[in-house]
Amino acid sequence: MAASQFPRSCRSVPALSRSILLHATSRRSLYSPSGAPPKWRPSSALDEWVQREARPISLRQLTFFGRTLTESRLLSSANYVRTELPTRIAHRLRDMQTLPYIVVSNSHLSHVYELYYKAFEKLRRVPEIRTIDDNDRYCTVVQDTLREHLTVIPQLAMGVLEIQGLMKPEDTDKFMNTMLRSRISRRTIAEQHLALTETYHSPWHFPDAKVQVDANSDFVGEIFLRCSAKEIVEKCATATQELVRKAYGSDTPVPEIKIQGHLDATFPYIVSHLEYIVSELLRNSFQAVIEHNHKRPEPPPIDVLICETAQHVIIRISDEGGGVPPEILPYLWSFSKGPRRQLRLENLNRVPRMAATIQDLKIGPRSSDWKTTGNGDSSLSSLTARSPDLRLGIGLPMSRIYAEYWAGNLEVHSLEGYGVDAFLQISKLGNKNETLTTRASMDA
Ligand code: COI
Repeated sequence: MAASQFPRSCRSVPALSRSILLHATSRRSLYSPSGAPPKWRPSSALDEWVQREARPISLRQLTFFGRTLTESRLLSSANYVRTELPTRIAHRLRDMQTLPYIVVSNSHLSHVYELYYKAFEKLRRVPEIRTIDDNDRYCTVVQDTLREHLTVIPQLAMGVLEIQGLMKPEDTDKFMNTMLRSRISRRTIAEQHLALTETYHSPWHFPDAKVQVDANSDFVGEIFLRCSAKEIVEKCATATQELVRKAYGSDTPVPEIKIQGHLDATFPYIVSHLEYIVSELLRNSFQAVIEHNHKRPEPPPIDVLICETAQHVIIRISDEGGGVPPEILPYLWSFSKGPRRQLRLENLNRVPRMAATIQDLKIGPRSSDWKTTGNGDSSLSSLTARSPDLRLGIGLPMSRIYAEYWAGNLEVHSLEGYGVDAFLQISKLGNKNETLTTRASMDA
């Protein structure tokens, strides 16, 4: 919005205060006594978008939708994303506007606010997508926004650490949970649409064919229909062992991983979400076992048990790493409180842009062609692939948000002096909607 559209008195205030002020004045003080906005003043676009409810989707719906990818389905997917992104961002902007002013004027949080406002203004203006060319242009806009928002996680994480004492810790954590959950949801629907568009353009896809050439493919966009718990654990274990060796030195004995139980369990899932959670849990276990057993030439193994039930797959990861230190235990799920605050802030400062998942990493460096993916950008850190000594304090709470997003669950039981049992429960039917609101477990 041009500066000339603001009342004269607002022109010198920073952008965040301007938009809050404008918002406040357009809603309240400039209204006539009857409560109706005066005719000469347009009502806030944000007010309009906040009236809309987000329309949650399930893995099953996403799969069904993308299975036979016709032009009309791709355009419907584009228009779903076109209206969902500004709706979901509008709700988060409104959340931020209701925070105490001193909180939202924190430099990191106002950076996020400005990014979101800019994205909202850009995305809400995209007209209906009617052709494949419209869609390709739209995908470029989405891809650019995904890339621009790679600063959001470290900025939010630093912001909530810095505002300590200005808000109740439980309110800060609730705010952070809502922001991150919503971010996952937006990135999921955006990335799924980009992946479908990529499939649509791929040489082996014939949109008019009655039988799809790729009908037997195990992937629908980002969804892997036969995600194997055992294979994911193995893959994450190998990658994490590698990181651990780098951090502790190649002669440090690294614990073995023993996988038992229902080794054939498969389910539909977004692989990058599961890899994020499993890698995070394994990192914690490796680190604890190595540090707790540093004198033993052969550290005790990390036991992984996979259990499949009618509705769920449960992955239990048990280590003998001595348990969570009692001074940290009460803050295990908190983004804002706990010891080591200073260290966390310093470490977060070292990662200005952060990819939460492998999927985020694929967004990579700026390119004018959204179909060109791949990461060649060394300033971009992945939350999963970071060195285990880079303690940020957000891996575990973030993992629980990922787990709950597709109606799953994550619990950690610490046996003081002995070790930790982490239970990850996955809803295996894919029929549950994404969780957009903060779950009860967050309120506790
Ligand atoms: C985010 O990463 O926070 C987003 O909202 C991205 C989306 C607008 C494409």
